[in-house]
Amino acid sequence: MALGALLLAAAGCDAPPQGAGAGGPAPGPEVLEAWETVYSVLQHPRCANCHPRDRRPTQGDDRVPHAQFVEGGASGRGVPGLACAGCHRDSNLGPAPLAPGAPGWRMPSERLGLVFQGRSSGELCRQLRDPRRNGGRTPEALLEHGATDGFVLWGWDPGDGRTPVPVPHDEFLRALGTWIEGGCGCP
Ligand code: HEC
Ligand code: HEC
Repeated sequence: MALGALLLAAAGCDAPPQGAGAGGPAPGPEVLEAWETVYSVLQHPRCANCHPRDRRPTQGDDRVPHAQFVEGGASGRGVPGLACAGCHRDSNLGPAPLAPGAPGWRMPSERLGLVFQGRSSGELCRQLRDPRRNGGRTPEALLEHGATDGFVLWGWDPGDGRTPVPVPHDEFLRALGTWIEGGCGCP
């Protein structure tokens, strides 16, 4: 589906919060199913490794601590002497275990947080629909991020020796659009 059509579909996240504990009407099954697809992508190691539970990225399909206990620091770009850019470049250096790459390689800043690892489906759903906890994004901006962001796209092109995200990218976008259109309902 074209990004434009998805953006048009994305007006609905302003609906009152739905789902467990929110007091609104229960979200429909197709909205919850779409969310579970989105959730499975967010929890995939290609995404979750850069969205760890603390300030240290993880690596590999097992999401083990990054070699040398690399830290994101406040900016997410690393700490003095061990900046992400010291090893990660604009593109993959080669097959694993060579460093993967995309322009501006970093993890989210400390201020943004954006922790995915360790979040249950309901927790991550409510986090992502909350502009105070999703990097200040409108639903439209979330969709655009999913469609065009270099780190997101890398998840489908991580280089030899790394498992790409198994859900096709356009299916991920469709699911994100369905979830938003359905009012961002959460389990
Ligand atoms: C190289 C690290 C890295 C990888 C890999 C990565 N992200 Fe991110 N992600 C970030 C950073 C950094 C931000 C903060 C946004 C910014 O600084 O522009 C972010 C922000 C986000 C956001 C918040 C929304 C927003 O617009 O800011 C979502 C959703 C997201 N990423 C999803 C994903 C998904 C889905 C994948 C895998 C397909 C993924 N990320 C892979 C680093 C990464
Ligand atoms: C000393 C060099 C070095 C530094 C500094 C470094 N990395 Fe890495 N990183 C690597 C290498 C090499 C790999 C690949 C390891 C492998 O595949 O076995 C890697 C892998 C990763 C992965 C895992 C990709 C995947 O899904 O398997 C993430 C995420 C990551 N780095 C994020 C970061 C972030 C964020 C920073 C800065 C805060 C950073 N790295 C700093 C060398 C480095």
